[in-house]
Amino acid sequence: MSVSVPPFSVPPVAADRLPALLRAMPKAELHIHIEGSLEPELIFALAQRNGVALPYADVESLRRAYAFTNLQSFLDIYYAGASVLLAEQDFHDMAWAYLQRAAADNVLRAEIFFDPQTHTARGVAMETVVNGLHSACRAARAQLGVDAELILCFLRHLSEEEAFKTLEQALPLRDKFIGVGLDSSELGHPPEKFARVFARCRELGLHLVAHAGEEGPPAYIWSALDVLKVERIDHGVQALQDPALVRRLAAERIPLTVCPLSNLKLCVFPSLAEHNLVRLLDAGLAATVNSDDPAYFGGYMNDNFLQTFAATGMDAGHAYRLARNGFEGSFAGESERRRCIDRLDEAFALS
Ligand code: HPA
Ligand code: ZN
Repeated sequence: MSVSVPPFSVPPVAADRLPALLRAMPKAELHIHIEGSLEPELIFALAQRNGVALPYADVESLRRAYAFTNLQSFLDIYYAGASVLLAEQDFHDMAWAYLQRAAADNVLRAEIFFDPQTHTARGVAMETVVNGLHSACRAARAQLGVDAELILCFLRHLSEEEAFKTLEQALPLRDKFIGVGLDSSELGHPPEKFARVFARCRELGLHLVAHAGEEGPPAYIWSALDVLKVERIDHGVQALQDPALVRRLAAERIPLTVCPLSNLKLCVFPSLAEHNLVRLLDAGLAATVNSDDPAYFGGYMNDNFLQTFAATGMDAGHAYRLARNGFEGSFAGESERRRCIDRLDEAFALS
């Protein structure tokens, strides 16, 4: 997945100019769950439009419920929020709101996860979900200059048989998504549970990614690589517990789509200052920065960069490596990746 361009040497940037550079630099977002971009205001607007009753009186009381202790405590609220999505227009509106927000953060490339089983389980048709999201991606390319693609995620707390059924339903829409992923409750649902469905997706030429090592052990990262044969690891922050795994990830330049504010809000790390992002980079890993579920975790791409840099003291060299890892780790074609990296280099040359 590496791009054969010469490394760019990063000129020194004064600490007070770093936030402006972090905002302005071009970025790729490789780990965003579109249902996690549903802001409380949009949840309430869609609930009203669709006549869905919510167990919260208003936007403020919903927001107050966003106090999470671990992944599962978040997922319970996240799936409840998604229950307001019924019509194709709802999916379009949700994705369009995210893409406008991404454009404002100078995201040039977005690879967007969606969870069809959350919707088909409520009787929403697969076409409704995919067509609504896809029309927003098309509009983003034309109107915002954001190159956006979709990645279908299987819910790992459900069975492999249900994942196969979901794949069957999605195959008529095969040209509207570029890959598959694995998300939801990690502990107790190791990647190998989905060995056969990922093998089938591989035969179909789909890109493969999986959440592993968010709360789960390094063993889950090994099996995502060796059994599922994924091209990227989503999160992967637990990799540092296992030196042999770190060597493997570094040698193969496997991208890790790290989500610092998510890790903070789900108590994976006690504070951003204690996040291991710098150590991942220092170990030679292809770490990237992403927002995961920005409406729930308190920030989009620029918030993730700004807050993490402020807390850890990372510098412009780290910023360049993180942004470049994002483009190199993306599934964009060679010429598109090259174009984005050229724009990244320009932003640093001008800083
Ligand atoms: N982890 C697993 N599943 C998810 C997440 C996450 O951070 N966000 C949405 N679904
Ligand atoms: Zn995620």
